[in-house]
Amino acid sequence: MTAHIEEIARHEGQQVTVKGWLHNRRSSGKIHFLTVRDGSGFIQGVMSKQAVGDDVFKQADHLSQESAIIVTGNVRADARAPGGFEIDVTGLEVVSESKDYPITPKEHGVDYLMDRRHLWIRAPRQHAVLRVRHEVINAVRDFFNSRGFILADTPIFTPAACEGTTTLFPVQYFEDTTAYLTQSGQLYNEANAMALGRVYAFGPTFRAEKSKTRRHLTEFWMVEPEMAYASLDDVMDLAEQLVVYVVGRALDKRRNELKILERDTSRLETVQSPFPRISYDEAGVILNKKGIPFKWGGDFGAPDETALSEEFDRPVAVHRYPSAVKAFYMKPDPERPEVALGVDILAPEGYGEIIGGGERLADLDLLVQRIKEHDLPQEAFEWYLDLRRYGSVPHGGFGMGIERVVSWICGLEHLREAIPYPRMLYRMYP
Ligand code: 4AD
Ligand code: MG
Repeated sequence: MTAHIEEIARHEGQQVTVKGWLHNRRSSGKIHFLTVRDGSGFIQGVMSKQAVGDDVFKQADHLSQESAIIVTGNVRADARAPGGFEIDVTGLEVVSESKDYPITPKEHGVDYLMDRRHLWIRAPRQHAVLRVRHEVINAVRDFFNSRGFILADTPIFTPAACEGTTTLFPVQYFEDTTAYLTQSGQLYNEANAMALGRVYAFGPTFRAEKSKTRRHLTEFWMVEPEMAYASLDDVMDLAEQLVVYVVGRALDKRRNELKILERDTSRLETVQSPFPRISYDEAGVILNKKGIPFKWGGDFGAPDETALSEEFDRPVAVHRYPSAVKAFYMKPDPERPEVALGVDILAPEGYGEIIGGGERLADLDLLVQRIKEHDLPQEAFEWYLDLRRYGSVPHGGFGMGIERVVSWICGLEHLREAIPYPRMLYRMYP
């Protein structure tokens, strides 16, 4: 019976067939230790000459890394094995050989590995990260689907900017039109929320970020909920519940993967409600106290975010940034128009902003004024202004970057390992 390594515990004491690849081989005289991977996990097969006979044993002598093999044997519990089980091999079929696999157990540089990303994802750490990513994405979907949010997709080709004109990717759209790859589905999400109440969009988004930081990709996945009749507080409540849920799911379902990644999970266990909520002004006071220069009016840089997050054992919500550094669609605080009713959620341990959002500007005249101030082409936003013309209501939402969250949960140093094929300033291959 073909078994998947992930579910091998179910087959204790039985004979199974595992279809996969040879990850590693050690030999000691009359025994080969074959680490086999099948995509669902890794397991050690113990092959003795006695059990398989001379011919098969000899064939295994020369088996090279990543050769495709089918192994048959008996599943035996072994407390010392990483997954708790081993296979006593009774049969081996070589499906195809792999010659000179370029990624060996020795240390390779990151550029070398990134050039071979299509193979690197077979390695145990990368494999673990991608499985955590899968869990995060499913947790996000389950969270919204079980709370009455409707998935409504937003377009990737768009006629105008959502998040500032400096990070747009233009695309030739037939002969004489320029389209831009979406930076965020938010504006369409707002229209969807006016039609469907509570909605979310989940897809790839694009930013022509010229910065070479460990937190920026040019193509990343974002989940964006939007709610009609919602305030900034409602937005913060939802963001907090989502983060607690997603981290909880990873801890619950992906312990093994986090162990492979040597993640200190005690730092994730503390991610519980309530999250501290501080204003931009209060954040400034904290920075000053820590001796970090802070001048009212600017956005926080990565070092500022790291310094702020060090103060807390869980994510922190920072709200009411100066309107001038935020997007045109943010609602000014009626009590203090120089600040916007926006919020960023900063992850602990220096992982920086994982969520950005807030309450939207619902007033038609002010929105028109903001579009002008930001030098945006009003004709491209007429449809968006219609939302303020025909039954405008207070509403809000946010965007959460999947790779930022995966990177934090996995404890990665760089976002590039949180997505199968990262796109960055200097990388589009493979
Ligand atoms: O803060 P941002 O720019 O917010 C928006 O785009 C809003 N329109 C979302 C909304 O309210 N519906 O981006 C949201 C999140 C960030 O907090 C971050 O997690 C992620 O998207 N993000 C990036 N992730 C990877 N690489 C980049 N270049 C990113 N830019 C933003
Ligand atoms: Mg932001």
